[in-house]
Amino acid sequence: MTAARAPRRLLVTGGAGFIGSHYVRTLLGPGGPGALRVTVLDKLTYAGVPANLDPVRDDYRLAFVHGDICDRPLVDRLAAEHDEIVHFAAESHVDRPLHDPDAFVRTNVLSTQTLLDAALRHGIRVFVQVSTDEVYGSIDEGAWREDATLAPNSPYAAAKASGDLFALAAHRTHGLDVRITRCSNNFGHRHFPEKLIPLFITRLLDGAEVPLYGDGLHVRDRLHIDDHVRGIDLVRTRGRASEVYHIGGGTELTNRELVAPLLAETGADPSLVRHVPDRKGHDRRYALDWSKAHDELGYRPRRTFATALSETVRWYTTHRTWWEPLLPPHTTLPHTPRGSGPMTVIHGLDGPLTGGRPVTANGMPHREDPAPEQAGRGADPFALPSREPELTGART
Ligand SMILES: NC(=O)c1ccc[n+]([C@@H]2O[C@H](COP(=O)([O-])OP(=O)(O)OC[C@H]3O[C@@H](n4cnc5c(N)ncnc54)[C@H](O)[C@@H]3O)[C@@H](O)[C@H]2O)c1
Repeated sequence: MTAARAPRRLLVTGGAGFIGSHYVRTLLGPGGPGALRVTVLDKLTYAGVPANLDPVRDDYRLAFVHGDICDRPLVDRLAAEHDEIVHFAAESHVDRPLHDPDAFVRTNVLSTQTLLDAALRHGIRVFVQVSTDEVYGSIDEGAWREDATLAPNSPYAAAKASGDLFALAAHRTHGLDVRITRCSNNFGHRHFPEKLIPLFITRLLDGAEVPLYGDGLHVRDRLHIDDHVRGIDLVRTRGRASEVYHIGGGTELTNRELVAPLLAETGADPSLVRHVPDRKGHDRRYALDWSKAHDELGYRPRRTFATALSETVRWYTTHRTWWEPLLPPHTTLPHTPRGSGPMTVIHGLDGPLTGGRPVTANGMPHREDPAPEQAGRGADPFALPSREPELTGART
């Protein structure tokens, strides 16, 4: 008789955020690998939304730790109890560090090093560093391959690039199995309403003006979160140590081209689009060559942009209880009539986007396995207040 293999134990940082929570919901959802345990470590900053984990909160394989990845003793304790780390936690909004770069260096650089140190000390088998195409700067034509020079232009991108370099150094110096993913611009449901697509959707649904930076000709490759999390898991399970993999969406659009379907899907009037001065250091174009992930891992985006966008708009239309509490108070003011004054909001620059959520933290470690008949409906694994009705069709 052979002994049953123990399930893999994954530590997922930033698992209450947009992409991290989708990754966790996907891993624990139907079609996920099944035999694994997931611990989410999340500080619940303004961008961490406990309700993002509601669809899996009763899953006995999930534990939630409310904590900071900069907390060395905590990270150390957690690393000792896990086999792999998938590192999403970051300050992720590119506009914010223009005003407060320190938090970006702390979270995106220093704490990445804290995690790497703990991973080394406790023999973590795989460390996946989730990064971004923004580390390469801007590209007029063609697409970056994984060996392109890092040339970040914003404090956010510089901090992410530094985190990547520390991760690669941990491999070269100590042999830690580090794998890096760099992806293009994600979209999908539960995207915090400070980023372009959810900001536009939520404002247009309210009949409010939306800000379009500069001439609106900045180009981004749009990647649906279903494709992104699938790509990340391919890298985790099939990737090679010290390799960088690009995960792209295959739909390049200027922001102007993006606005047209957003107006159509929300039924909003085109006069609501207001051109505002460009952001400082706004990169013109990002483009990734993801043929390496395709050739080595079998990755290719499956979601069609138009369908996935339509689905995303529908989700925001039917889940106001998720996003309304996340808006700063002034964005809920009635629509400013065109020409009556300056825009009040440009991607959250003029005020903290905090939902002011009360949080009851509950910590590690994983609870004992429930009896089989209790699996999936045991006691609440992390007693955080639910903020929305049960999501139907969480996996888009
Ligand atoms: N959204 C995109 O389009 C995109 C594109 C490329 C790369 N990425 C990268 O993907 C990752 C996830 O992005 P996202 O859009 O889900 O971000 P997000 O802002 O939605 O979520 C970040 C999560 O990290 C948590 N967090 C922040 N600081 C923390 C700390 N010190 N300790 C513990 N938890 C902390 C937050 O509470 C939040 O839950 C980031 O590393 C980001 O750089 C995102």
